[in-house]
Amino acid sequence: MVDAQSFIDEKVEEIRDEVGDGKAIIALSGGVDSSVAAALAYEAIGDRLVPVYVDTGLMRKGETESIRETFDFMDSLTVVEAEERFLVELAGVTDPEEKRHVIGEQFIREFEREAREADADYLVQGTIYPDRIESEGNIKSHHNVGGLPEAVDFEGIVEPVRDLYKDEVREVARELGLEEVISERMPFPGPGLAVRIVGEVTKEKVEVARDACHVVEEETAEHEPWQAFGAVLGKATGVKGDNRVHGWVVAVRSVESRDGMTARAQELDWDTLQRIQSRITGMNENVARVVYDVTHKPPATIEYE
Ligand code: XMP
Repeated sequence: MVDAQSFIDEKVEEIRDEVGDGKAIIALSGGVDSSVAAALAYEAIGDRLVPVYVDTGLMRKGETESIRETFDFMDSLTVVEAEERFLVELAGVTDPEEKRHVIGEQFIREFEREAREADADYLVQGTIYPDRIESEGNIKSHHNVGGLPEAVDFEGIVEPVRDLYKDEVREVARELGLEEVISERMPFPGPGLAVRIVGEVTKEKVEVARDACHVVEEETAEHEPWQAFGAVLGKATGVKGDNRVHGWVVAVRSVESRDGMTARAQELDWDTLQRIQSRITGMNENVARVVYDVTHKPPATIEYE
């Protein structure tokens, strides 16, 4: 990308040409990629863009409210409350790729319904370059690049940021005047908190993961990680008050990276780690211990599943 403003002008023009008088739909996730794609498409076609946010129940703390606030200039935002349906589908599923598959399928079902109702001709997606590479390399399936186009008979797929790396998307976000909470927001995986839970996804584990992610994001902010979060590993023994408990083990991960393809575990200071530990064990009586993940990528991946 040469320069953010020229990129914006070019893409807005391209979207206008492609969509013509048609209608386009976009699935918002709260992340910078889909937000930039939405902002570009909105600039190009205005109210003929139908923004939809599917609340899978696997999203970050406060996501729904934050999306409503960010996109309050688009009066047609549809919020789909789908948490219960996702949890039902995920019950008993423990294999990581199977989890992704189940989430991807359910997402398609939810979105397909909205797309038909909206009678949209085009699908706008916030796919970026590394998404395409990882999907093509079959390293992990990314539900934001597969499945959706086949499920609904769109006239075309519009992917305005498909050739950009994350840092370039952020540059465009700033140029578009999106708020800092969006432009500087750390990446969040399509399958959400499900890949930060080892084994079966349950409501209880999701709540622990969501709160842990929130604490880790807050406490590591000044270290500007590429991604930082908490993940629920399994159960271990602890002692709370006078009682032995068999509680959750939360792993804390904070990594530096340019594009997520490789990453380095951050060297966090002891005080930060202890603050995180104390907040996470304090917030939930079912958390028995907190560990810090010092593994780079490779050999580990960033997420746990
Ligand atoms: P991993 O865990 O493979 O993650 O090192 C690399 C980057 O990709 C994100 N990620 C995903 N994003 N769908 C997505 O849209 C997925 O299934 C998925 N898995 C991982 C991860 O958060 C990191 O930024």
